[in-house]
Amino acid sequence: MTVLITGANRGIGLALAKQAAARGNAVIGTYRSFPGRERGIDWQALEVSDQASQRTLADRLGGQPLSLIVCNAGIYKDGGQTLESGFAPQLWDETFAVNVKGVFLTVQTFLTNVRAGKGKIAIISSQMASDTRAPGGSYIYRASKAAALNLGRNLSADLKKEGIPVGIYHPGWVRTDMGGKHADIDVADAADGLLARFNALTLANTGCFETWDGRTHPY
Ligand SMILES: NC(=O)c1ccc[n+]([C@@H]2O[C@H](COP(=O)([O-])OP(=O)(O)OC[C@H]3O[C@@H](n4cnc5c(N)ncnc54)[C@H](OP(=O)(O)O)[C@@H]3O)[C@@H](O)[C@H]2O)c1
Repeated sequence: MTVLITGANRGIGLALAKQAAARGNAVIGTYRSFPGRERGIDWQALEVSDQASQRTLADRLGGQPLSLIVCNAGIYKDGGQTLESGFAPQLWDETFAVNVKGVFLTVQTFLTNVRAGKGKIAIISSQMASDTRAPGGSYIYRASKAAALNLGRNLSADLKKEGIPVGIYHPGWVRTDMGGKHADIDVADAADGLLARFNALTLANTGCFETWDGRTHPY
């Protein structure tokens, strides 16, 4: 089993990479600038928003079969901003380039490898993607994660006929640089729960939007 995880040098991605490797999987962990230090992970450079960077990694992997890709890399930069002065156009561009285009390019670029491995695709979105749970604020991040959820839902429809399941996940509110130190759960619990969800992902539940601890999340 070979797993590719984007944004694996810190946070949830690193915890996923470490636990997946500890369970005997071969793990390709991607980083943007600074590779993780953990041994047992194949560290590879990848800027998810850049097609040339995606192609460079794809060329390096060649036709290597992948059993799972986890689109985890993401940014959240508009927390706490106000309608009066926040949400600059540049921030929309930057966030959508990573959280939406980055997810799509990753799936598109490594689809051949997933096909070869009869693998699965996991997209880390957020409960902040939900239209049902919409408390306001963080417009850019919420819209980007809603778009990532939408991508996952439509990819699941297209890839079902090929036998490739696609799941979309809320990892919990997790104590990372992004989640902050007052978040609910630590990265090890988030990763443990997410890996169980990925294991349970099949064609029967493809297109699911689930939380790290196995609850179905309203779209
Ligand atoms: N933490 C939470 O409570 C929470 C809740 C819901 C959803 N999520 C989602 O879970 C995922 C992981 O979050 P986290 O809390 O682990 O965040 P984090 O600690 O901020 O880590 C983000 C990771 O994404 C990478 N990344 C960012 N932009 C990138 C780019 N353009 N190309 C490649 N890699 C890039 C970062 O690399 P660098 O080190 O180079 O910056 C880092 O490895 C994200 O998609 C996030 O939206 C998190």
